[in-house]
Amino acid sequence: MRVGIVGGGLMGREAASAFGRWFVLDREKVPVRVELTAVCDLQPSLLEWFKGVPGVRLLTRDHRELLASADVDVVYVAVPHHLHESIYTDVLRAGKDLLAEKPFGIDLGAAERIADEAHRSGRFVRCSSEFPFLPGAQRVFEAARSGRFGKLLEVRSCFWHASDLDPTKPANWKRQVKSCGEIGVMGDLGMHVVHLPFRLGWNPVRVYAQLQKVYGERPDGKGGMAVCDTWDNAMLHTDLAVDEREVPMRLEMKRLAPGATNTWSLEVLGTEGGARFSTAEPKTYWEFHRGKEQPWSRIDLGFASVFPTITGGIFEPGFPDCFQQMWAAFAVERAGMLGSRFGCVTPAEAVASHRLFSAALRSHERKAAIAL
Ligand SMILES: NC(=O)c1ccc[n+]([C@@H]2O[C@H](COP(=O)([O-])OP(=O)(O)OC[C@H]3O[C@@H](n4cnc5c(N)ncnc54)[C@H](O)[C@@H]3O)[C@@H](O)[C@H]2O)c1
Repeated sequence: MRVGIVGGGLMGREAASAFGRWFVLDREKVPVRVELTAVCDLQPSLLEWFKGVPGVRLLTRDHRELLASADVDVVYVAVPHHLHESIYTDVLRAGKDLLAEKPFGIDLGAAERIADEAHRSGRFVRCSSEFPFLPGAQRVFEAARSGRFGKLLEVRSCFWHASDLDPTKPANWKRQVKSCGEIGVMGDLGMHVVHLPFRLGWNPVRVYAQLQKVYGERPDGKGGMAVCDTWDNAMLHTDLAVDEREVPMRLEMKRLAPGATNTWSLEVLGTEGGARFSTAEPKTYWEFHRGKEQPWSRIDLGFASVFPTITGGIFEPGFPDCFQQMWAAFAVERAGMLGSRFGCVTPAEAVASHRLFSAALRSHERKAAIAL
């Protein structure tokens, strides 16, 4: 699988890191070799950085040049949200497969048009969301899927950041509607909180949203101030229809969550059992069993990844690991070999996330629950 990257910033370089140690993956379970062959970015300093990455043969500032290369089968696009639709569409029209970054278009309309183009093109398209590949997240998923929790009581899925609590943190494209999107923090963090619930068949039938904007401007990095008009925090109170009952599911996406660096968590509670995992405790899995004393058991997890690697079973996983696991899922599913293993977000799931976030905007504006 020869990969080209468009957008070599934070996430583009993370992808290069995942490919650079691809050989750690079990070759029988992941029988796909990966090579990073081409990179496109507008910033010369980033193209310079990629000169130090083995295998990269084409460095360009024009994504069309990358798309014309016969050395590229799959394109990973990690650019600001207002560019998703045009660049994803160019990738598909060039006959390449695509790992898109979230939120898969700046708004619902863009997401629908990208999904239509993906369908028309027949190319293999998935969207990025890596946290569900962590061992703790997989344990919650498997336990919830097994049905051993009894009647579902409630679900809480969160992704919290804290660095925006610092008012001197400079503005960037993620803080402005024109480049991040009207949905703001939901576009930034939302795919991460819906991927696992959607995969469990938990699709909200109703949403009541509380959205907050707290810092209206930030330093622009040039001595002045820049307007920051995106939503900072979003709490979505949703209803699920499970076994002919309604069950509350709360989705929390926050840039202003005191003390949380990059904390993804999922809690599922039922009448017979429950489970909880947070990246704040990366090797800790909590499971509840209803018994006489109703214990919450703490289990020390090791490196039980979806796709086995050479890393010792007792070692701790981290962000670069789950990001590589997500890429392994993409590569294996593209090759038609995923089987029952956990896969990346599909275009249909990405569109469903936008439908939810778009309804959340209406809910907040009207101060009313919106049916989906
Ligand atoms: N999966 C995750 O955990 C995760 C984390 C952060 C960001 N993201 C997503 O990744 C995407 C990129 O975010 P980021 O944090 O890497 O941003 P970033 O600002 O660090 O990088 C974006 C890069 O795109 C480049 N770029 C802009 N226009 C371009 C063009 N026309 N052609 C080529 N390159 C261009 C910029 O120069 C920059 O280097 C967004 O969709 C974001 O939501 C995902």
